[in-house]
Amino acid sequence: MNRKDQKEQIEALLKQMTLEEKTDLIHGSGFFRTKGVERLGIPGVVSSDGPMGVRMQFPDDSWVPVGDSDDYVTYNPSNSALAATWNPELAYESGKVLGEEARGRGKDVILAPGINIKRDPRCGRNFEYMSEDPYLNGTLAVPFIKGVQECDVAACVKHFAVNNQETDRLAIDTYVDERALREIYLPAFKAAVQEGGSYSIMNAYNQFRGHFCSESKELLDDILRDEWKYDGAVISDWGSTHSTKGVAECSMDMEMSITTDFDAYYLANPLREAVRKGEISEACVDAKVRNILRMMFRLKMLGEQAPNRKQGAYNAPEHRQSTYQVAKESIVLLKNEPAGTAGERLLPLTAETLAMKPIMGNDGSVISVKKHRIVVIGDNAERIHAAGGGSAEIKALYEISPLLGLKMALGGNVDIAYAPGYYVPEPKTKVEDLVNWQEKSLEQRVMSDDTPDTEEKKALRREIEANRAKLRKEACELAQTADTVIFVGGLNHYYDIESRDRADMKLPYAQDELIAELLKIRPDTIVVMVGGSPVEMPWAAQAKALVWCYYSGMETGNALADVLLGRVNPSAKLPETFPVAYTDTVTYKNGEFGNEGRVEYKEGIFVGYRYYEKEGIKPAFPFGYGLSYTQFSIEDLQVLSAPDASWAITVNVKNTGNMAGAEVVQCYISDPVCSVERPVKELNAYQKVFLQPGEEKQVTIPLTERGFVYYDVERKAFVTEPGEYVVSVGNASDNCLLQECIVL
Ligand code: BGC
Repeated sequence: MNRKDQKEQIEALLKQMTLEEKTDLIHGSGFFRTKGVERLGIPGVVSSDGPMGVRMQFPDDSWVPVGDSDDYVTYNPSNSALAATWNPELAYESGKVLGEEARGRGKDVILAPGINIKRDPRCGRNFEYMSEDPYLNGTLAVPFIKGVQECDVAACVKHFAVNNQETDRLAIDTYVDERALREIYLPAFKAAVQEGGSYSIMNAYNQFRGHFCSESKELLDDILRDEWKYDGAVISDWGSTHSTKGVAECSMDMEMSITTDFDAYYLANPLREAVRKGEISEACVDAKVRNILRMMFRLKMLGEQAPNRKQGAYNAPEHRQSTYQVAKESIVLLKNEPAGTAGERLLPLTAETLAMKPIMGNDGSVISVKKHRIVVIGDNAERIHAAGGGSAEIKALYEISPLLGLKMALGGNVDIAYAPGYYVPEPKTKVEDLVNWQEKSLEQRVMSDDTPDTEEKKALRREIEANRAKLRKEACELAQTADTVIFVGGLNHYYDIESRDRADMKLPYAQDELIAELLKIRPDTIVVMVGGSPVEMPWAAQAKALVWCYYSGMETGNALADVLLGRVNPSAKLPETFPVAYTDTVTYKNGEFGNEGRVEYKEGIFVGYRYYEKEGIKPAFPFGYGLSYTQFSIEDLQVLSAPDASWAITVNVKNTGNMAGAEVVQCYISDPVCSVERPVKELNAYQKVFLQPGEEKQVTIPLTERGFVYYDVERKAFVTEPGEYVVSVGNASDNCLLQECIVL
């Protein structure tokens, strides 16, 4: 249907609707659905979380899941894992899996992707977000959205905007200067709606410059609609609306919330009354209905295309394969240093290392064999993560834990023993866990909360400490029996969770002490960290092999085993900086300790590596960093200019080692002389290059405008100043040895 026909149909439908019916389209009548207008054949819109898979089914009016067996789904890698792949094709595939599953489960809108900037490593929802860099964020969000929407499901990119902390998330008033807003916090949203064509967008809970995002004229009317010409639907975050007039008179189209008094929602009876009394114009209602109907036409929920709407599928075998592809490219090798007398690296664990060793008899014949013994230590080796994290939780069809993955990969000829190593106190009942995820974890309440000690708290603390000591002793004893020790720890969804930020960047459950002890007993311990946000790793200098694994979906264990065993060559790069300590971060420097009420982003545009590079703070692991089992050379940088004034670079990338692998060529731009302060450099473009051993490719990477422009607050526009720009190319933000100049 062309735009004109669609417009006419929308107007025709609108004309037939009563005010009551119109408002039925613009507010929830169940937690995840609107009512629709049956009389006119308009169905309700059904939505679901979230980024890691289609969430379990809820009744319309209760937050206790239905609990049937038909809502198990594919568990996708989290957005943080996806971002670590630096691979837009995988972002597209991942979006497509999510879209197909959502459609398969009968959903119209999937509440994903989450693309808020990772400003503070403590943010509880960082695992749901992609990066600290707006460009990387946008280049992954766009194909992800296209993948989702190809399945006749709307993406709902969230949370618009400047929603970068969970503390006081429902009310925090965020102040960010105009330049930082335009250069850091908005670009990925702009790309998501303009290039990705996201059919819907979710406003954030927080306030922006004194107004709730659900009724921010500045964000929704001026920027989203007027400047970006967005004609999709704006959906409120659940319970983010605060008034009838404010929301009705700005470009927020569909009010969703968490309470069951659906008729009392701001855009339900209160709006009807206000319109009848003439306090709010019906034109405001019509504008919202138009946006929603337009989205429904695009989804083929209405109109002549409706019989052709895709049916989707969930739990399809190819979805599982796709999650594996993402997972294997999302695991970051942080350290792999020579160890032992022969100077060999600990990873990958080769077949030779793991082979059974013959036990010889006196006569020189083989009597039997001794199996290689791997001792796996750490709660995260065993933990299932899919069901946690807040609204991103899902009921995964399965989740391969790291321990299961290793056992499946190695079979019966390797002896694998396991010890939990550290103690994770669990809530008393599963229901408590399911419904009360917004409360602090038991560990936090008992071990790190500053509320006064009660007898119950003291007893719980004693219990936790006793369990902790016992598990540590067992693990250390077991480690001494091993040929290889693998520690799998990190965070879990008691820490990486919606509605709560971490208090600091420390590893919970006294893991630091345990890891330090293990590294003393076994200096060749392979350390694997699982988590959604950086942690302090005070023992990192002692660890010879260190692997970072974001929550990587149902195939995490298989992918991790394949990386550890060298069946997959790691190719992920950090999509965010890992600072040495929380005290190195800009939010710490700003004096932000659990902001409430109001927060000012004093650092302006200097977020993530832009901050560390400006201040000369050396991080533990920089943005864009990640090792491989092979080596690459990147040489012969040339800058090319096309007649249309666009620029590109070419480089020769060669795999100089002996294993197939992939390198991410990263291109940064600096503007050394500028009338405003600029970052040391900014990511401008990147490309992941796959190479066989010895293979060499010349790659051409088109340059974007990132780094050549800055936002001029006076002129209210992005501008380029004439002069010399430096193009730096390499394989990590701290390793860009090739440089060329561009004069504009
Ligand atoms: C979250 C959203 C989510 C919504 C619906 C809110 O608490 O902030 O990201 O989509 O709930 O579950």
